Formats: sequence, structure tokens, C-alpha cells
Amino acid sequence: MSPTHESNPLRDPQDRRLTRIAGPSALVLFGVTGDLARKKLLPAIYDLMNRGLLPPSFALVGFGRRDWSDEDFSAQVRDAVEHHSRTPFREDVWNQLTSGIRFVQGAFDDPEAFGRLREVLAELDEGRGTKGNHAFYLSIPPNAFEQVCQQLADNDLATHEQTSGWRRVVIEKPFGHDLDSARELNAIVERVFPADAVFRIDHYLGKETVQNILALRFANQMFEPLWNANYVDHVQITMAEDIGIGSRAGYYDGVGAARDVIQNHLLQLLALTAMEEPISFGADHLRAEKEKVLAAVRLPEDLAEASALGQYAGGLQGGEEVRSFLEEQDIPSDSRTETYAALKLDINTRRWSGVPFYLRAGKRLGRRVTEIAVVFKSSPNLLFRHRSHEESDQNALVIRIQPDEGVTIRLASKVPGTQRELRAVNMDFGYGASFTESSPEAYERLILDVLLGEPPLFPRHEEVELSWKILDPFERHWEEQRTRPETYEPGSWGPDSAHRLLARDGRAWRRP
Ligand code: BG6
Repeated sequence: MSPTHESNPLRDPQDRRLTRIAGPSALVLFGVTGDLARKKLLPAIYDLMNRGLLPPSFALVGFGRRDWSDEDFSAQVRDAVEHHSRTPFREDVWNQLTSGIRFVQGAFDDPEAFGRLREVLAELDEGRGTKGNHAFYLSIPPNAFEQVCQQLADNDLATHEQTSGWRRVVIEKPFGHDLDSARELNAIVERVFPADAVFRIDHYLGKETVQNILALRFANQMFEPLWNANYVDHVQITMAEDIGIGSRAGYYDGVGAARDVIQNHLLQLLALTAMEEPISFGADHLRAEKEKVLAAVRLPEDLAEASALGQYAGGLQGGEEVRSFLEEQDIPSDSRTETYAALKLDINTRRWSGVPFYLRAGKRLGRRVTEIAVVFKSSPNLLFRHRSHEESDQNALVIRIQPDEGVTIRLASKVPGTQRELRAVNMDFGYGASFTESSPEAYERLILDVLLGEPPLFPRHEEVELSWKILDPFERHWEEQRTRPETYEPGSWGPDSAHRLLARDGRAWRRP
């Protein structure tokens, strides 16, 4: 990554990696009372401070409707930090952080509140030394983006032509609900902020294990020669969660698993798995390769046969009685929203011709696991002809994104004491056993990158739009057919139709 003028190289004493600290800056957070802010963003900011990666002049400004003083907001931040931070609570670090905490009370449609925000930022620039460097984090529903961006523009907060420093905006998914709405949203944000000042968060890209996909593929010599249609039979990308939708009905109903996580996280994983080697880690090079492979995705002709939708039933899961999706709070009893989706995609490149990519994501499944399994073709087995034709005769390389982060290679091995009997065994790399450093949370890395002005881990709008182009035909098909998701038992591995989807191709889902 190329150095930027506001950052200093340093060896982080805590995790002994070459890393850089952010320069003087203020982060303005919209949506301070949301779950994301409380569980992820505020703790990540503290963790960065604790790791010495934020400068003493860093300031955190909350913007919201609550009638809070700076001290009230600070108490909320402290509570979130104490409950959810990754690193231990240290009073000296907290004192440093809290001295830069401010709260601006107001609604998104209140111009005076934005006037006050402007004054607070001017005061921080002067008094604390944030030097006109402001990042605006919109952890708010997308329908409020337009209003907030416009207010920022009207108060000269979005651009820095007349003043010094940089201005950046951070937006969270959902980036639209289809291609048209995504384009509209992109246009709204980019009307106010230049494209290179817009940081779109797909938090999967902040995960260490996701960044390691490129290291695994391109820093090793042994995988790349096999990483193509000559050797790979198919690829399975799984994102399974054991939880239900909790209290997120307002967001989730009408969105569903495909829009919630396949359009973004899973297609990003597909892109990183299938892309060509970029000529550098620079944002332009990396994004260009991801875009090339997303643009090469082809949908099978029969979309009904190439997809499966499910909805969790109620019942016992891990000894606990859980509600069905239709019984969740605020979900209409006739909702057709899917909590499980599986898709089959092809990639029309020389490297991947004829290699299906199967993607699945669901809630209330057997356990929480995200993994990418590259399943290789069977060996010709000239010496081991007699071996039974079961799953075990295919090698697989499994990238375990979470939990139990690591990589497994599945091999056939002779069973000791037998003539020629083979059994599938695993060769394992686990982060826990190989590294003493613990992995930072995705949001630590992403917030730091925003403050450093490092864009490679943030999808640009072309990527978002290409991903919608892949998903839209499926969504249209399900809508036109008024497809009802098939019910599946909580704690199972999804609906039967998902198993049939692979069985039709003579394959089976892995049991992660
Ligand atoms: C979010 C989805 O993007 O990712 C949630 O909106 C999902 O529905 C979450 O639960 C899962 O994230 P992680 O990091 O726990 O895999």
C-alpha cells in the first residue's frame, strides 16, 4: 500500500506488525444508538486507541436526536467499550479518548444542528488539533443518506476546497436493494463527495482470514498452478449462522438472505477466490481484478434449478425452543422473505470454464461457520481403482473464514495396517496455533483504513453494481414466480431443495 502524507510508519508494539498510525482527525458518527455502533464501531475505536493506532488528537463526535451532553454520550461510549471491546480496558487510554468526545444533538432534517456540528468541528480543529480532517460515518438507514449528505454539503462540511484537511464519508450496506436503487444511492452520495472520498464498508473485507485469501493464493507457489478448471471440480462458499433474525425484522423482512449477505459478502469472497493476480495491492489494481471476474459471472439458464430458498421453522435447536421466522416479532405471518438462499453461478473465463460456484447463506443453521471450499477433481486412481466412490476421493482446500480461522487441506491417506485402504484426512493450519497475535476485529482495520485514506478494502460503486447485476435476475425470477421459501428445521443445513440443487449435478454440500 502506498504511504500517505498524514501517516507515520511504526512497528505496533502490541502486535509487532508493520502498521501505521492515523493522523490527526475527527470521526463523526451518525447512528450512535444503533446496535452496530454499540457492539462494533465504538469498541473498535477504543481498540485502535489502545493499540496506539490513533493519535492523541483524535476526536469522536456523535450526532443524534437524544438529549445528551458530551458527558452523557461519553458514558454511553464507555459502556459499549467495557462490554464489547477486544482489548483490555485501560483508564489512561480511556481518558485520552474521552477528552476528545463530543455530542451534537439534532435531527437529520435540522439545519441548525448541522450548523452546530460545523462549530464543534471547527473548535476541535483549533483546540484539539484535528486539522480539518473529518470522516463522516453514516451508520443510518440508506433513505437518510440523501438528507445527511445534503446537510453536510450545505454547511461546507463535505468538501475541503476552501479549508485544509480531507473529508471522507463512510457508508454501510445495504447499498440499495437492486441495481437501479444502488445506482441512485451511489449518485446521491457521489453528488456530494468525490468518488475517492466514499468508503463503502463490506465488513467481510476487513476480516484477517478474508485478506489472507490473496496471501494464500499468490504468496505460495503450490496452489496457483492447480487453481483452475483443469484441476478444480467446483467451489462451495458457505456462510452459515446459528442465530435467527433477532429484533431485526424491520430491516430483514423483504430483504432476505440473498440481498443481506450474498450480494455483498459472498460475492466478494467469490471475487477474491476467482480473480486473477492483481499487479499490486493498490486499490485500482485490486478492484479492477475483482470487477473483471464479477463481470464474467454467468447465470445458468434455468434460474429455478440453479437456486433454492428456505425459511426456518420453529422447534428445538441445541436443546432450546426457538420461534419460526414467521413467528418472529414484527414479521407478517405470510412473509415470503427467505432466511436461506443457495445459488449456482458459472464464471465465463478460461480459468473457470465449466467449474460451478455454489453459494449458500442462511440463519438458524447447524452452526456458525463461514468457509470457502475449493473441491478438486478426483484423481484417476490407477493404483487405487478399487476404492469406493465417495466424497473422500476428492481433495479439497478449505479456507475457514470463521470461527476456528485457518486452512484445511483434505487428502487421501492409507489407513495404517491395511493393504491399500484409503481414508480422507486433514492437514490443518489454525490461526490460534500458528500465531501468538490475535486478529483485530474487521472494524478496527476498516476504520483505521478510512482515517489513513487507504481504499483497497472498500468496494467502489462499480463492484456494488456488478454484484446487483448477478443477483437481480434471481430476485426477479423469485418475485415473478412468487416463490415460497421451503421450510427447514432449525439447526439443520437448509431446505431439501438446496440439497437437490447439488444432487442434480452429482455433488453434495460439505458438512462444515
Ligand atoms: C451482516 C448481516 O452483514 O453480517 C447480518 O446483515 C449477519 O445478517 C452479519 O448476521 C454476520 O456477520 P459476521 O461477521 O458475524 O459473519
